[in-house]
Amino acid sequence: MRADTSDEMQWPAHTRAFCAELPFTQRTTIFEHGKGIQLFDSRGRDYLDALSGVFVTCFGYDCEPIIEAMTAQLRRGLAFQPPLHGTNHNALRLAAALADLAPEGITTVKLLSGGSEAVEAAIRLARLYHTARGKPTKQKIISHYESYHGATYGALALTGHPGVGVFGTPMPGAVHTLPPEALVKKWGLTAEEAGQQAAALIEQTIEAEGPDNVAALVVETFSQLRELATTDPGYFTRLREICDRHEVLLVFDEIVTGFGRTGQNFGADTVGVTPDLICAGKGISGGYAPLSALLMHERVSTPFRDDNGHMAFGTTHTFSGNPIATAAGLAAVTHFTEGGFLPRIQHLSARLRQNLTDAVGDKATVNITGLLCGISVPGADDSDLVEAACWRNGVIVRGMPYGIMLAPPFITTEAQLDTISAVVGAAIDEVVG
Ligand SMILES: Cc1ncc(COP(=O)(O)O)c(C=O)c1O
Repeated sequence: MRADTSDEMQWPAHTRAFCAELPFTQRTTIFEHGKGIQLFDSRGRDYLDALSGVFVTCFGYDCEPIIEAMTAQLRRGLAFQPPLHGTNHNALRLAAALADLAPEGITTVKLLSGGSEAVEAAIRLARLYHTARGKPTKQKIISHYESYHGATYGALALTGHPGVGVFGTPMPGAVHTLPPEALVKKWGLTAEEAGQQAAALIEQTIEAEGPDNVAALVVETFSQLRELATTDPGYFTRLREICDRHEVLLVFDEIVTGFGRTGQNFGADTVGVTPDLICAGKGISGGYAPLSALLMHERVSTPFRDDNGHMAFGTTHTFSGNPIATAAGLAAVTHFTEGGFLPRIQHLSARLRQNLTDAVGDKATVNITGLLCGISVPGADDSDLVEAACWRNGVIVRGMPYGIMLAPPFITTEAQLDTISAVVGAAIDEVVG
């Protein structure tokens, strides 16, 4: 029996290796508690979490309304309800709140437990949709290279990264095209030209695969793997037109970009296009419970409705719509809408942009939309060094092949934002020289 589990080195190596990602095995950090956007570890160190965990903890680590709602639900005596025989009030209210928050026309919500589950559900639903409309051959799913859509079988197949090959044969029917940002880099096009060409590539791909074989196009509105850069606004409008022309469902993977992260309710609002399906997760519960959702446009749900208007989707999971998770989600979404966070996010976004631009000078390029920020640091031999330098100075960011990413919580104070910017600027100076 271990006497003191706070000493992480007592844990056997095999446990350590499998319980977290690589940085854990290198740094063996055990987080013990949080306050606001601060985290405290078992060695007594504290950190400013400038990544919201990983785009999740928008309201910090001690958000009372969410904690109270979850506690009340536990005390009510319904931590779980028989999912095959009924639902619960929180799930129904959350579904309604999400439909209210989503772009016009998105009316139907399937609650799930994680981002990858939402992407899987989108794949299944897109295929079922075409089958229900008498076009069962429409099965293929197009997504971008340099994208991330999750780690389950279908979501991994949509993920456009050579690294997914190590997991063996992917889900059949996944097809990739180059995203606009890649065309800017590889062909030296302007953002507008790249948007036109990338959209044309998608249309050519649909035609080459055969429109009768393509079910859906799945894209992120802003992508972690592509520096969180802003795509030319016309791009998403073109995708909408192309999808409509070929009866292909347009799916936005908004696992990262939903719930205020971009300074609007959804990335769809930011790019000004309504998709057929939205995959949402991460910030949806503020990180207080595993929760995600597939949001559907009315026209997509129609073929599945019975005479009473009820929608049957055919697959579910044991924890879909779980009462504790949905208590957290409902409290988080209510806190977000009633707390007037959007103006605050936009204000913090402008301040972060100014601070970081001043701090990094010409050593880095800063892309910011809302509180979503990718910084590319071309002079860094190893961008993990920038992450490590921030970490040493008590700020959590994420190292990416191009640089780092930040996604501060919506409750970050101006003073904390200024500290974060100063630490990031100093880290880039240290690494680039
Ligand atoms: C854009 C995007 N899609 C899907 C996922 C998968 O979500 P999860 O890790 O909750 O399964 C992620 C996770 O980082 C993501 O960033």
